[in-house]
Amino acid sequence: MKALLTGGAGFIGQHVMRELLARGHEVRLLDSLRPDVHAAQNWKPPEGVELVKGDVRDKAAIDNALSGVEVVLHLAAKVGLGVDVGDLPDYASSNDAGTAELLAGMARAGVSRLTLASSMVVYGEGVGHCPEHGSVMPAPRLERDLAAGRFEPPCPTCGRPLATALVSENAPLDPRNAYASSKVAQEFYCSNWARVTGGSIAAMRYHNVYGPGMPRNTPYAGVAAIFTSALRRGEAPRVFEDGGQRRDFVHVRDVAAATVTACEKHRAGVRAFNVGSGTPRTVGEMAYALAEALDGPQPVVTGQFRLGDVRHITADSSRLQQELEWHPKVEFASGMAELASL
Ligand code: UD1
Repeated sequence: MKALLTGGAGFIGQHVMRELLARGHEVRLLDSLRPDVHAAQNWKPPEGVELVKGDVRDKAAIDNALSGVEVVLHLAAKVGLGVDVGDLPDYASSNDAGTAELLAGMARAGVSRLTLASSMVVYGEGVGHCPEHGSVMPAPRLERDLAAGRFEPPCPTCGRPLATALVSENAPLDPRNAYASSKVAQEFYCSNWARVTGGSIAAMRYHNVYGPGMPRNTPYAGVAAIFTSALRRGEAPRVFEDGGQRRDFVHVRDVAAATVTACEKHRAGVRAFNVGSGTPRTVGEMAYALAEALDGPQPVVTGQFRLGDVRHITADSSRLQQELEWHPKVEFASGMAELASL
């Protein structure tokens, strides 16, 4: 297949590019090499891969990049939690206006298959299990509770502590920050486009992706990269809240394989797929694993919090395993050891 990969110079994008090439596909990249992400402006793709340097919001760049293409994988986006509300317009513009421009371009070019990089953050706090009220959706956590060290979101009806449940793709969408909102909007624009054009969408709801090439030392870096950088400086990883927040850390090569598999196999309709390793870990557990692998100082649990953070993000990725026959291969311990060794 001839594939257009947007955001192909990014962390996940480069792994997806390699996976496409390894499976014999022809790849063209569209990437703006935005300076806040790409310090090296002279980044070049490997031999045989064409790079269109341009922004997904630029109609001319889109038309140029789409010519002769059969499928699109849309990864170009502004990621992370953001620094403050001043980031809102950039999330809306980069992620949502950019996606709208891409979809309009695909309709003009007659390209009907899209794989979208979405995120687990679309579920907000997800689903919890109350001993009395069953499956419930926790409300956003209040600043006064977080400041008092009450990190677990309570049952919205009785206030009891909740057990965590795995979130399926059918759970209601409930974005809690600018990035999450922009990902939900992307999914909705894509569904609208698919209905009108008859196109297909696979929305890949990635968990916390880690591995070689992770962005470091930027306000948008993921926690695994932040901890690794701190340990390399000889400093202790600083674990927010009480360290008990759960995430599913999924290796970037597994994510790339899932993305390309969906691009190859999903050919009709709109379908969301959770992409996780299936084994949730706490952030504290990850900090200890990295500290041990790098032989660095023990983590410090700070009690700090970020208001837009959700407590637990743990999803059920069985749909992807059953329908697309994808299976994660990289174990947490070996993936963390690899990250530490880079
Ligand atoms: C991450 C991704 C997001 C993706 C989502 C999918 C990044 C920056 N964000 O969001 O793009 O859509 O996963 O699930 O990669 N923490 C610390 N110490 C720190 C920094 C963070 O303890 O120095 C904690 C945070 O409070 C949070 C957890 O680590 O509980 C994860 O934070 P982060 O890596 O920013 O990721 P998410 O917000 O989960």
